[in-house]
Amino acid sequence: MPARHERDRSSREDPGGSGSGDLVVRLQSPSTQDDVAAALAADGLSIYAWHGQSRDEFYWAIEKTLELKPTLTLDDGADLIFRVHSTRTDLAKGIFGGTEETTTGVHRLRAMGEAGKLLYPVIAVNDAETKSDFDNVFGTGQSSIDGILRATSILLSGKSFVVAGYGHCGRGVATRARGMGAHVIVTEVDPVTALRATMDGFTVMPMDEAAAAGDVFITATGVKDIIVKRHFEKMKDGAVVCNTGHYDCEINIPDLASQAKTVREVRANNEEYTLKDGRRVYLLAKGRLVNLAAAEGHPSEVMDMSFANQFLSLVRLSREGRSMEKKVYTIDRAQDCEIASVKLSTMGCRIDALTTAQKAYLTDFASGT
Ligand SMILES: NC(=O)c1ccc[n+]([C@@H]2O[C@H](COP(=O)([O-])OP(=O)(O)OC[C@H]3O[C@@H](n4cnc5c(N)ncnc54)[C@H](O)[C@@H]3O)[C@@H](O)[C@H]2O)c1
Repeated sequence: MPARHERDRSSREDPGGSGSGDLVVRLQSPSTQDDVAAALAADGLSIYAWHGQSRDEFYWAIEKTLELKPTLTLDDGADLIFRVHSTRTDLAKGIFGGTEETTTGVHRLRAMGEAGKLLYPVIAVNDAETKSDFDNVFGTGQSSIDGILRATSILLSGKSFVVAGYGHCGRGVATRARGMGAHVIVTEVDPVTALRATMDGFTVMPMDEAAAAGDVFITATGVKDIIVKRHFEKMKDGAVVCNTGHYDCEINIPDLASQAKTVREVRANNEEYTLKDGRRVYLLAKGRLVNLAAAEGHPSEVMDMSFANQFLSLVRLSREGRSMEKKVYTIDRAQDCEIASVKLSTMGCRIDALTTAQKAYLTDFASGT
């Protein structure tokens, strides 16, 4: 566990001295890959992460990261930013700005911005089209299925596969599960999104009904308590339950544990809860993000665009952060187009361009058809 050794390497904890201007990156600790953390540590980065951190250790790691006195923050879930805004407000004046990688973090930061509580500008990297329409859909879609298969080795074909939430991530997972022959059921709260799922050919129903029908369940909502006690009470013997949304709160694990008489690990990232009535429920990756904990996260071929958005946003903040308002900014479409163009060229794909006459036609309101 080489990354764990960082806890004891106090002499290396602040490589650049106080306020060194280093970009501080918080690795997503519950799903850290130790070999990656070790490789980064070997390159001289300060790493406070190891696979399987407890909640207390996770917050310890954030505190240690903030001791580096960052001038830019890059977050994935907003825990680092929240800590600056709660216990380390002294650091805020030294920070040009921050970026946020994921959906739930952006929701919460927008709420903070609208309440006038943000202490520095934040760029919502998640909301770039070249991030959420690719990373969340194709990356989460593929890697979540990968995580389920690695943790269970089940055949998806013929299974009833319940996806909670048909947003970016849920759509990606549902489409891939269908491609592997599963009967996919979607649960939703948004009527337009539920309609889209129905028109895309999926069966839509409330979780209270899906609970009894599913063989495999995956949550992708960003909201807590999607699967709770009354759902576990209805599940089939052998049901597999996992999450690819936010942290570990979408599945209510205390509810599951309260109904269980025994728990044992049957495979890596797969715990069998035997309920008091004898049914067994298999919880993957302790309810944490199954694609990160049980597989390897998204392929680099889709993360390249997310990280291009991160990098360009951090460059902008380092240049303009001091004059930007303390709110959440979205990314300009020009940046999306630039990243998409580069990505297309790496894939050997060329596209057409509007002619001058076509551009004029698009805005011509005088000549009818
Ligand atoms: N696993 C990963 O690597 C990964 C990658 C990107 C995002 N995420 C996380 O996944 C979650 C979803 O992200 P997204 O981009 O798909 O968000 P999204 O907003 O596009 O989709 C979420 C969907 O969940 C639905 N929903 C909300 N509450 C629900 C409920 N009680 N029951 C059923 N559906 C409900 C919403 O209506 C919405 O359609 C977020 O927490 C995000 O941070 C995870």
